[in-house]
Amino acid sequence: MTGDLSRKKLMPAVYDLANRGLLPPGFSLVGFARRDWEDQDFAQVVHDAVREHARTPFREEVWQQLAEGMRFIPGDFDDDTAFEQLRSAVEELDASRGTSGNYAFYLSVPPKFFPKVVQQLKKHKLADAPEGSWRRAVIEKPFGHDLRSAEDLNAIVHEVFDPEQVFRIDHYLGKETVQNLLALRFANQMFEPIWNRSYVDHVQITMAEDIGIGGRAGYYDGIGAARDVIQNHLLQLMALTAMEEPAAFDAPSLLTEKLKVLKAVRLPQDLGRNTVRGQYAAAWQGGTKVRGYLEEDGIDQASTTDTYAAIRLQVDNRRWAGVPFYLRTGKRLGRRVTEIAVVFQRAPHSPSTPPRPRSWAPTRSSSASSRTRA
Ligand SMILES: NC(=O)c1ccc[n+]([C@@H]2O[C@H](COP(=O)([O-])OP(=O)(O)OC[C@H]3O[C@@H](n4cnc5c(N)ncnc54)[C@H](OP(=O)(O)O)[C@@H]3O)[C@@H](O)[C@H]2O)c1
Repeated sequence: MTGDLSRKKLMPAVYDLANRGLLPPGFSLVGFARRDWEDQDFAQVVHDAVREHARTPFREEVWQQLAEGMRFIPGDFDDDTAFEQLRSAVEELDASRGTSGNYAFYLSVPPKFFPKVVQQLKKHKLADAPEGSWRRAVIEKPFGHDLRSAEDLNAIVHEVFDPEQVFRIDHYLGKETVQNLLALRFANQMFEPIWNRSYVDHVQITMAEDIGIGGRAGYYDGIGAARDVIQNHLLQLMALTAMEEPAAFDAPSLLTEKLKVLKAVRLPQDLGRNTVRGQYAAAWQGGTKVRGYLEEDGIDQASTTDTYAAIRLQVDNRRWAGVPFYLRTGKRLGRRVTEIAVVFQRAPHSPSTPPRPRSWAPTRSSSASSRTRA
């Protein structure tokens, strides 16, 4: 827990929670990675990350309380001794700071190590919760790279943790605008009656970035836009847009409704006609000349990784049958935007369009004929 994500997002988020009074006073943070650090080196890195990226103001007393509970265990994920030291460290914290044996393991580590780390937690009895305490495992993306590998990883994780102990994190879903989707849909009377195939022509869900891959070649190449964004973020947005109203706004109810709608999603038969993949080339962006994907540092000249991906999906249920959902994402696009466009059908008659010539035979406006094609 010393990497890029930890410094930019996780450490600042822990501090922000503490600053808002949302963490218990004994909360403790234990880092585990290969670099040869002492506790105070780790605390210094967290301090700098908090100073640079936290959203709430820096308060010395909040920081001091957090810093007292910071420990660092240097070690490789193969190193049994290091995991024994980790166990001793958390047990010591239980005793000295009253953490009551409640541990959340945040796997902010390269994905290839997810299986190894959960197995080490089990082997060193860190995953077993004594009566009255809890264990949680937070797992970063990508969760596998295809169905088979995701199922294999799931099996390994569930040998160690029960389903309700596992949190497959999608930072995207924490964004306020994503949360607001639920309020927009279900706290309003206005949208629900027209949120269906009788009024909606199609839905476009877009996450466009104007940046390239930057220094993330190692992560991105071989993964690409479809795996990085569509299969997680955009499918989640699609589920929130298309699902039925959940019985409550709690995790099991949301999961039930999301699952129902995802099960109704049909992959197009003809993938060639219903998907697009692309790679950005060198060009001018504003006044700046930017490199193409294949010229980026660390990218293989023969790479076929997609930096743009789009797919047309159908949701085969009563509410959405026949309404295409277009999901698309890409890097180095014209502008940065994340958007869900619910495009309604054309009005059957608009006073602003010129009257039809008299000789025209009257046509009935059915929902099918008034649809515009995207
Ligand atoms: N960065 C992002 O914006 C982002 C966004 C979404 C999801 N994610 C996911 O979040 C996770 C972490 O990403 P990241 O960008 O922070 O990765 P990273 O910068 O490569 O950090 C990986 C961490 O794992 C440690 N590590 C690597 N190999 C190890 C080993 N053999 N034994 C012990 N520790 C080891 C590294 O520390 P040492 O080098 O000191 O060992 C470091 O603390 C990944 O699963 C990634 O896919 C990242």
